[in-house]
Amino acid sequence: MKTTLLKNATIVNEESSIECDLLIKNERIEKIESSIPSSDASQIFDLRGLHLLPGLIDDQVHFRQPGYEYKATIETESKAALAGGITSYLEMPNTKPQTTTLKAWNNKYEIARNSSYANYGFMFGGTNDNLEEIKRLDFKKVPALKLFLGSSTGNMLIDNPNILKEIFTNTPIRIALHCEDENTINQNLIKAIALYGDNIPIGMHPKIRSSEACLKSTRMAVKLAKETGAKIHIFHLSTEDETDFFTNQIPLSQKQITAEVCLHHLWFSDDDYSSKGTYIKWNPAIKSTADKKALWKALNDDRIDVLATDHAPHTKEEKKRPYTSAPSGGPLVQHMLPGLLTFAHRGLISIEKIVRKAAHNPAILFDIADRGFIREGYYADLVAVDIKKIWTVNSNNLLYKCQWSPFEGEQFTGWVKYTFVNGNLAYDNGQILETKSAKKLELSR
Ligand code: DOR
Repeated sequence: MKTTLLKNATIVNEESSIECDLLIKNERIEKIESSIPSSDASQIFDLRGLHLLPGLIDDQVHFRQPGYEYKATIETESKAALAGGITSYLEMPNTKPQTTTLKAWNNKYEIARNSSYANYGFMFGGTNDNLEEIKRLDFKKVPALKLFLGSSTGNMLIDNPNILKEIFTNTPIRIALHCEDENTINQNLIKAIALYGDNIPIGMHPKIRSSEACLKSTRMAVKLAKETGAKIHIFHLSTEDETDFFTNQIPLSQKQITAEVCLHHLWFSDDDYSSKGTYIKWNPAIKSTADKKALWKALNDDRIDVLATDHAPHTKEEKKRPYTSAPSGGPLVQHMLPGLLTFAHRGLISIEKIVRKAAHNPAILFDIADRGFIREGYYADLVAVDIKKIWTVNSNNLLYKCQWSPFEGEQFTGWVKYTFVNGNLAYDNGQILETKSAKKLELSR
């Protein structure tokens, strides 16, 4: 039997930060006490000066496998995730083939079982054509459904209102939504092409994929959810206007309509297009400083429930193309917790709230069993961080297969020192260890 003792860490969990010892027995947390004798353990880590957090659960990543392995794989990106404090992830269906059949969905679990370094779950994609397949799903096993109400990488647009209503009516589990109104975007794009031809400046991106497009789509989705009773989770909010749709008056477990914000929408603003160009082209677009401020407010007052990445790598060559052909998305998982700790250092959010939004809440929202909290009996998915360490992102310390980052040159205050997955040390101060101990995420339904 393997027992690991973590001594003298400041444990951040469920709104408090307390110096404590923690004993891991095999895969799970055995004991949390103010002092646990060293004789109880076969392996000891002295974590004095470090904070110990539950491993983050990223509810939106694109790991590109199968179909786009030239951009990324489950293995490469799950390794990068460990360095970013992420021990579990929910992956998106816009792969090739799309994850819109049971066969494709099962295949992803098979790939992950053989190659993932972090715990894994896969969302099932809904399209205009797979309603019958969705109705046949075992909802006890599928973490969530994902629908693209605006088209993005992978052409998974669902724009048939009757099908959408049927899916909302027939899906008892949470439906994660990409909300951008396609007609609004197309009209804006036509106008921009008329003005600029092939040379649309990147600064036009938030005017093409506009606030109006986000608002219109989110408003429609919220209305339909209220009519049908569907539980929805709006992904990657990017505008002030949309924050009005969400409430902080009820606990998360009772919320029918929830929301997520991503690292890039909190970090960048439209001021950054001139220096970063298409490297910060995302769907939905990075918008104004006022939008960013409003997202921060809604996150801190609990109208926004979840912090995630929308990690979506493309190659450098693809990103360097002119505006209309450069794909949207960028790699983020490796920089998630360092980025969030940097926000905490700047006084924008507390470390306790980071833990709630990036670990506790995704576990609650998607019924992820025995993870997301530091509790006796739970899996020992843990991250030890140095909140004072200053370091700079550069091309030599990137783990992504695509080998670029929108953060290159940025300085972070906050470093992930150790990451434990199911009780095993999986990442040690910059090094990924070859102890693959990831598991499929079980659901408590
Ligand atoms: O910018 C984005 N890229 N947004 C998405 O929703 C999809 C993603 C991708 O898969 O590239």
